[in-house]
Amino acid sequence: MKRVLSGMQSSGQLTIGNYIGALRNFVNLQHLHRCYFMVVDMHAITVPQDPAALKEQTESIASLYIAAGLDPNKASIFLQSHVPAHAELGWIMTTLTYMGELERMTQFKDKSAGKESVGAGLFTYPSLMAADILLYNADLIPVGDDQKQHLELTRDLANRFNNRFGEFFTMPEPYMPEIGARIMSLDDASKKMSKSSPNPGSYIAMLDEPAVIRKKLSRAVTDSGREVKYDPQNKPEVSNLISIYSHFANMSVAEIEAKYDGQGYGPFKKDLAEVVVAVLEPIQERYREIRKSGEIFDILKKGAAEASELANETLLEVKKRMGF
Ligand code: ADP
Ligand code: NA
Repeated sequence: MKRVLSGMQSSGQLTIGNYIGALRNFVNLQHLHRCYFMVVDMHAITVPQDPAALKEQTESIASLYIAAGLDPNKASIFLQSHVPAHAELGWIMTTLTYMGELERMTQFKDKSAGKESVGAGLFTYPSLMAADILLYNADLIPVGDDQKQHLELTRDLANRFNNRFGEFFTMPEPYMPEIGARIMSLDDASKKMSKSSPNPGSYIAMLDEPAVIRKKLSRAVTDSGREVKYDPQNKPEVSNLISIYSHFANMSVAEIEAKYDGQGYGPFKKDLAEVVVAVLEPIQERYREIRKSGEIFDILKKGAAEASELANETLLEVKKRMGF
């Protein structure tokens, strides 16, 4: 059985990009492999967070994991900050990382662009992510393609450690079930949809009410044409909406194009909202029950205990090999 590890930052509400690119796959993977799914709250603080908001977002995302179908009896579900070994191996990985490697990271360039001051943690984030993965000697890492560069660095660091201190870490492989599982922003199709965007109109949150989803999709930017045609080069906005439709309705691009042939964007966008609502509404109902019951705290405690067992074992061996 392979080991799978992944996580999401509690830096905002989960979007449908997180759902399609990550969470939906987590749910499938828990039946096939030994899975560890965390909420990476220590990554979230690489940009400033309000304490009350951080706490709420962290609990909310963990609860959404369960609402979307993760089963705490199949997968270990926990918070990164509950397993201190992440911080400790994170530091060790930082010392193995070269400045030049971090300077090349496009996510850092994007997130720091135009900012007057940027925390050092935003820069060293990929070293902590490497620790997250290597602590569990994970084989498969389900990530969106925005994280591929970070995973490449994780492999380089694993190799570097193995060369210097003896063969130990497993080489993690990216797991991307479908190409193109990248949802773009509703206001600018050149940027990925992100929960940390300052413009809520640019994303659909998994917890957006149906009326909000309808409004946001009706206002989503399109070109001035009227043909519902998948053409990412010339029609990036409409292509993104078709791709969302396809993922949520389980229909192929060709089927969607045929369905809206000659109809213009109006009816297509209206149906798109219903297709998204149909998937999210039952998840939102379960979510409300989970929040009400308070069961998430026990789930996270159990998950952290399971994760710690393996993480501490790895950390001990790493430290021994390094001369601690
Ligand atoms: P965000 O960028 O929204 O803050 P995270 O960095 O926490 O999200 O990413 C959590 C997971 O969701 C990662 O596996 C990432 O690849 C995936 N993901 C994030 N945004 C998208 C998107 N727009 N489309 C597809 N997958 C995404
Ligand atoms: Na991100």
